[in-house]
Amino acid sequence: MNALIDYYRSQGAPQDQQMLIALLREVQEQNGGVLTQTALRTIAQALSIRENMLSALIRRVPSLRMDTAPHLLEMCQTCPKGRELRAWVESTWNVQSGGVCEKAGFRYRTVPCMKNCRFGPSVKWDGQLYSHTTKEMLEQLIGGKTNG
Ligand code: FES
Repeated sequence: MNALIDYYRSQGAPQDQQMLIALLREVQEQNGGVLTQTALRTIAQALSIRENMLSALIRRVPSLRMDTAPHLLEMCQTCPKGRELRAWVESTWNVQSGGVCEKAGFRYRTVPCMKNCRFGPSVKWDGQLYSHTTKEMLEQLIGGKTNG
């Protein structure tokens, strides 16, 4: 995301609101169609603007969407040892990539290699990378709540 921020800063963001909106659109696209609070915080800090100024802008632009789930679970889709873990998450929380488990409050998506292959299965929870992930670790992160 830093490269995107740098690019749009060089194009006039945040003073040029169209460039700021274009940045938000690209970040949203990279993030599976929604903007997360973590992404807003990163952009706000990098551009020295307030997070709630970005939130207000998002509310005014119909094509921008905030994620309603408070958490994001990303699982590497290519970690060889991750297949069983992914299947377990999907059945336990009744969720598919791109979807939200409302009850447990997280959005779930599978993503390409996280460049942590030797330490897989690799998982990110709210952007933080976890290695050698186990079911027990995921239960702790998610809070043990299931959708069933
Ligand atoms: S294959 Fe999963 S981190 Fe690289």
